[in-house]
This record gives sequence, structure tokens and C-alpha cells, in this order.
Amino acid sequence: MVVPPTPENLERAAQIIRSGGLVAFPTETVYGLGANALDARAAARIFEAKQRPSFDPLIVHVADRGMLQKVVQEVPALAERLMERFWPGPLTLVLPRSERVPGLVTSGLPTVAVRMPAHPVAQELIRRAGLPLAAPSANPFGYLSPTRAEHVERMLGGRVDLILDGGRTEFGVESTIVLLAEKPTVLRYGAVAVEELERVLGRLELQVGAREKPLVPGQLPQHYAPHTPIRIAPPSEIPLGLRKRVGYLAFQEVPKGFKVVKVLSPTGSLLEAAAHLFEALHQLDRLGLEAIYAEPIPEVGLGRAIMDRLRGASSA
Ligand code: TXA
Ligand code: MG
Repeated sequence: MVVPPTPENLERAAQIIRSGGLVAFPTETVYGLGANALDARAAARIFEAKQRPSFDPLIVHVADRGMLQKVVQEVPALAERLMERFWPGPLTLVLPRSERVPGLVTSGLPTVAVRMPAHPVAQELIRRAGLPLAAPSANPFGYLSPTRAEHVERMLGGRVDLILDGGRTEFGVESTIVLLAEKPTVLRYGAVAVEELERVLGRLELQVGAREKPLVPGQLPQHYAPHTPIRIAPPSEIPLGLRKRVGYLAFQEVPKGFKVVKVLSPTGSLLEAAAHLFEALHQLDRLGLEAIYAEPIPEVGLGRAIMDRLRGASSA
């Protein structure tokens, strides 16, 4: 059921979490599918609802430093600097995990991915539940992430105990993930640009994107994919005859001759383009098109996260 985040509904949601249930909630990135991160049975329900393989670890969401202390063993100095600058916000840090976090949540890894979301509904839910929330994006495994409550309802409606509706999410792409190992390493491009992180930490290692042998579970090919086949190509490479039959996801300008076109940002803003990306793909995917073509986006700032998602959507 989709409900507005009134105090009563937040209390009800917190109660569901405390009793081992599932609540979908808005964050500043995408909607999350939350459960008590300290309860293996509750976390197992997430994997079941998403049909997610258990070797793909979850991100744990905390509301304050006290909760962070419960799920990690220590906070390295570099992590401290990142938290000061980017928390609460769309940055996930991979830190040594405390024994209290069930192995299912971390897929048996010695580390746990943690973030402190900035969205007031996410914060309030965690606070009222009094528990850290394990929460992946609220979509079936491998499909487009949800940026609206309707997306969650359509994809997972029957499998979630409650959906809190916070409108469209601000960033529209998932958090950036950084592993705090000897050399800090970016594991996933996301809503905090690598350039911003590097202003704090200096040069970072990059181990992002799908690869044959994932560095961490979860770095699997073909993530974020719509049902309609998707290809990345500039309009100039698409013959007019084909244009009539397919959809186009354009960055800034409307190219001629396509059956349908969605423009991510008429002003050419990468922030705006990221915010509209999954929503545009959800819309295009519902039209039963033969294919969707997507324009390459400049790979700077949030453009890297956008291209990462488009590549994930198009790897066939
Ligand atoms: O923005 C976000 O981060 C959203 C919202 C809901 O907060 N959540 C999200 O979760 O994107 P999810 O489950 O879609 O992404 C989890 C990914 C895993 O697939 C894996 O790549 C990485 O986080 N991860 C989790 N635990 C890890 C660990 N211990 N070491 C390395 N990577 C980890
Ligand atoms: Mg996801």
C-alpha cells in the first residue's frame, strides 16, 4: 500500500520494521526496500522480494553516529573526513563490519557498506524504528531502479508491507560507493561525483562497473536493465528508417524522426539528467517499443554515473 509519510504512517512503518517486515521508503537517491539490518530473517525477506542473489550484499542505512558504531568495527581517519563532508548524503562507505551485522547482509564479507541518507523521510523512519535499515534499491533484481513510489508499487507492490510516498527522488541515481581500504577505491559511480571526492581525498582508485570477475559481489553485468533492448548511440548513427520504429533517450536536444523521444535535460545539466534518467527509462519501457537508443552523455561529474547505468542497461 502506498501512503504519504505522515507521523502516523511513519510510526506504522517503524513498527513494521521492528517486527521484521519490509517498508519501501524514499531516499535522496532512489527508493529503498528497507528491513531491520540486524535481523537475518528480515534481511532474507529483502532477497526474496527482489529475487536477488544472496552473494550481492546490501547497504546499511543509519540515522546517526551511534547507529554507525553498532554496525562497524572502526572508522578509519579517511572515512571520518568523507563523512564530515558528505554525510548525511548519497555516499556509501565500505568499512570493517561489526559482528552484529548478519552475514547475509554483507554476503559473508568482512566489510559492511553503510550510508546516512539525507532524505527526511528516510531519517525519520530509521530514527523511529531505532534500528539500522538494510535497504537495496526497491526494484526486482537487475531491473531499473525506482525514483517514484509508483515505480515501487508497479514492480514490487504485492511483496512489500508498506510504501512511503515521498514524491520523486532528488538525485535519481544511487549513492557513490567508496571502499576504505589501504587505497580508497571507488566501487560504484553515483550521486556524489568522483571529482568532489577527490577534492577531499586526492586521487582515488577506480574499480567500477561490470567486469568479468567482480571485485565485490554485486558488480555484475546487466544491472538496471529495462525489458526493451537498449543501445547507446548518437542520433547521427541511427538511420532514418530505423528511427521511425524506436525510442530515443536524448541528453539535451530532440533529434528528428524517432517514434518517441525523451529529453533528460533541455538545459544540458548533468544533475537534472541523472534525476530524470530512470523515470524516462521506466516510461519508455512501458511503450512496447522495438528498441530504445540512448545518447552518450559526457563522462564528467554525474555523467559517469549516468553512463554507468546506461551501460548496465544496454549490456546484452
Ligand atoms: O543510493 C543507494 O545506495 C540506494 C538507496 C536505497 O540507499 N541503495 C542501493 O543499494 O543502491 P543496492 O543494493 O542496489 O546496492 C548495493 C551494492 C551492492 O550491489 C554492492 O555493489 C555494494 O553495494 N556493496 C554492498 N556491500 C558491500 C561490501 N561489503 N563491499 C563492497 N561493496 C558492497
Ligand atoms: Mg540496485
